[in-house]
Amino acid sequence: MVLLKEKLKEIETESIKKEVKVGIIGAGYVGLVTAAGLAYKGYHVLVVEKDKEKLKKIKQGICPFYEPDLQRYLLEGIESGRLSFRENISELVSECRYIFVCVGTPIKDDSTYDMYYLDIVAKEIANNLKNNFKVIIIRSTVPPGTGRWFKKAILRYRRGLTASFEVVSMPEFLREGNAIYDFFNPSRIIIGSDNYDIGKEVSELYSDFGAPILIVSLEEAEIIKLASNAFLAMRISFINSIANLSEVFDSNIENIRLGIGLDPRIGTEFLKAGIGFGGSCLPKDLSALISVFNNYQINPILFEAVKIINDERIDIFINKIKKALWNIKNKILTVWGVSFKANTDDIRESPALKIIPKLVQEGAFINVYDPKGLHNFQNYVQKNYPNFSNSIKLIENIYESTVNSSAILITNDWDEYKRVNYYNIYELMETPIIIDGRNILNPLEMKEIGFEYYSIGNNIR
Ligand code: UDX
Repeated sequence: MVLLKEKLKEIETESIKKEVKVGIIGAGYVGLVTAAGLAYKGYHVLVVEKDKEKLKKIKQGICPFYEPDLQRYLLEGIESGRLSFRENISELVSECRYIFVCVGTPIKDDSTYDMYYLDIVAKEIANNLKNNFKVIIIRSTVPPGTGRWFKKAILRYRRGLTASFEVVSMPEFLREGNAIYDFFNPSRIIIGSDNYDIGKEVSELYSDFGAPILIVSLEEAEIIKLASNAFLAMRISFINSIANLSEVFDSNIENIRLGIGLDPRIGTEFLKAGIGFGGSCLPKDLSALISVFNNYQINPILFEAVKIINDERIDIFINKIKKALWNIKNKILTVWGVSFKANTDDIRESPALKIIPKLVQEGAFINVYDPKGLHNFQNYVQKNYPNFSNSIKLIENIYESTVNSSAILITNDWDEYKRVNYYNIYELMETPIIIDGRNILNPLEMKEIGFEYYSIGNNIR
């Protein structure tokens, strides 16, 4: 009887889903994953994207960036007919009750968020609101107060005309490279709204995700997002500071991490020492949080320290390289890893982007290998360092990248680096030295093969 009831409930939920239309504005990481994921879950999803080239690719089921499994879900959504595209926001607003705003909020030179795209969206939504009630869900990462501003902006653009809508803040916590997994297995669903009933209604969209749902105020949701990323960044800078101490005492940071992390109040996750955090979120959101604190005359010293420690990682790594090699001028150095971490082609704020130019400036020749990031890196070098083209060689084969090399520098953490045959690589290099900025290889194994192996927070050679 209970089982039958559950089944009936499931059937009811499925049929409700088929009638619900969800609009997505902006097909970047967040927008596209949300669109493909919700379509897979059974909703009708309509997507608007301003970048015509990008949209053309997406319509053909081609993902404009590398994200494991996303393309498969995208194609499935398109083929099922549940994922479709609209030319402009007005069509989307008229058809959908739920409108997810997923446009970019890049950071400006003064480290504050650029609200330009959000403002445009507010205007376009305002111009197209009719009598039907709309729920506008902001998923872009924003400073606290944005949801309220967004509401106000819509009302202003309406110039006194009535409008029936509510704004909800629903931060996302997707990790690049794991975005599909994270979408279907969220740690929590945070819904910020002034109107509890609307918050509850939005939570229904996610009722079968098996995650705790927390309905809070608009600003609380916005703060939760920034605070979560700042906390993660803080953990990384924390362990990196301890790694500096570990090196002084010829210790192994992995043992220390385990020893700290076995306390259930601390845990071992997000405590991996290395050359620092990069990516499109942690560095940007940390800087923006510092600006928010300054803006409200609150002391941001904790977050400033996290940032300073992270920035220092680059020079610490460069010094390690120099110390190991004695001289780097006219030497070939192999860099494995230009994306900011494994399983993504995203090179934004990647430590390698800061390390490679410094090495070139000191006269080194760099062979670069990355399983997915080479294309983006090539564009980056052409744009920012056109004079370096003779010093930087992009190589698509991991073994070839080590030929005559004086050292391998590991700057991100793709699994492929663990699987290569190091006996072969040992033969190919001029001097067999590895400087592992992500602590992904086994020091003893490397030593046994004959490598001089250096890593972070370990002084065991
Ligand atoms: C992050 C948050 O994890 C995610 O919840 C949020 O939605 C977006 O920002 P992402 O930028 O994809 O996700 O990367 P993440 O996996 O968090 O890693 C960030 C950086 O920290 C990477 O450069 C990674 O190499 C580094 N890192 C991570 C460490 O140095 N040590 C660790 O223990 C973990």
